Amino acid sequence: MLTRDDNDRLTRIGPGTPMGELMRRYWIPAGFAKQIAAPDSPPVRVKLMGERLVMFRDSKGRVGLLEERCPHRTASLFFGRNEECGLRCVYHGWKFDVDGDCVDLPSEPRDYNLQARVKAKAYPCVERGGLIWAYMGPAEHKPEFPELEWALIPDTHRYATRHIQECNWLQGLEGGFDSSHLSFLHGGSAHSEMRVVPTRYEVVPTDFGFVAGSGRDMGAEGVFWTANVMLMPFHKIIASNPMAAHVWAPIDDENTMLYSVDFNAERPLTETDLARSKAHNGIHTDNIPGTDRAIQNKDNDYLIDRELQARGGSFTGMKGLGIQDCAVQESMGPIADRTLEHLGISDTAIARIRRLLLQTLKDHAAGKPLPGIDPKSWRVRSARYKAPADISFAATMAQHVRMNALAAAE
Ligand code: FES
Ligand SMILES: [Fe+2]
Repeated sequence: MLTRDDNDRLTRIGPGTPMGELMRRYWIPAGFAKQIAAPDSPPVRVKLMGERLVMFRDSKGRVGLLEERCPHRTASLFFGRNEECGLRCVYHGWKFDVDGDCVDLPSEPRDYNLQARVKAKAYPCVERGGLIWAYMGPAEHKPEFPELEWALIPDTHRYATRHIQECNWLQGLEGGFDSSHLSFLHGGSAHSEMRVVPTRYEVVPTDFGFVAGSGRDMGAEGVFWTANVMLMPFHKIIASNPMAAHVWAPIDDENTMLYSVDFNAERPLTETDLARSKAHNGIHTDNIPGTDRAIQNKDNDYLIDRELQARGGSFTGMKGLGIQDCAVQESMGPIADRTLEHLGISDTAIARIRRLLLQTLKDHAAGKPLPGIDPKSWRVRSARYKAPADISFAATMAQHVRMNALAAAE
């Protein structure tokens, strides 16, 4: 459990909050590039980190992410005309470019120097891995875009979707690193003898975030470890084949955009790979057309099939891993009250992750260097491997997750 103060510190991400300011030191996904596919295409609304924004692509193909409120008299720039390298507010015609500079002010006398003084809040953006990423932090701290594997490979090697989780980002992240739920929540059977629960839980801080290890003792064979990589501040790389990844990008304190990616670093995804990704029994969801809301959502109890649940065909009676995660994480409330919890041994990793994040908040406040700022530190993968029982996870994991170490070993 956490104190109320610590729970607030970890979960609140609006401007000026400790976690909000920490997250703003990293590149944050604002949307899919395909949402603004062509130059001068219609702007789209983006809510990110508790801020209302509009995203657009100008005549030269550059991407802008501006505060939605027009600096003149606060009308929405979403209704704006995207024309000749700028977004023009439809109320009085003031026009702003991707940098937020006011480039035309037709309602004012020409000699009036207001134009130079008016600036729309604008965040720098880059396009990587089919997504638009924004940097919302202090300009002097803007890091290089990290070497995030799935964002650097060709589009043909990747399948990405997103859906809204109607809860705080930390519930999502914690669920992603909670290895003891796998054989319960995602179990195909209601029978307890089918369940395999890890016996060892480790979390090792690194220069990119941390690696969470869950291990099963295999007797003379040693320990079978799953090493899951967390990259600051809200990424998970999943050890699966094809590989997969999640990003829990906060929309606001009570909603999260969960990006889910399947990818193969070496080759294009095949029809078989894509068919499996699109089957929607995995991490991806089927969404209500034109929205990011899953068809199975909290208003319809995720289409729970009580008959299936009772028969034992599925522990939850809900279809889809992503939906099962969503259901339990949203059921904890918009922001889980962690003062009410009772943690057990199997929550060791969760407790450790919270302590680590709290420590990172302190380090940030003290101006210390942050993990994940060096783009090269991101060259990691999650892994599964066997190791002798008497060697610690901390001592073995690096050679399995660091891509440089992997390449050297080959
Ligand atoms: S409110 Fe936008 S131009 Fe006046
Ligand atoms: Fe899960």
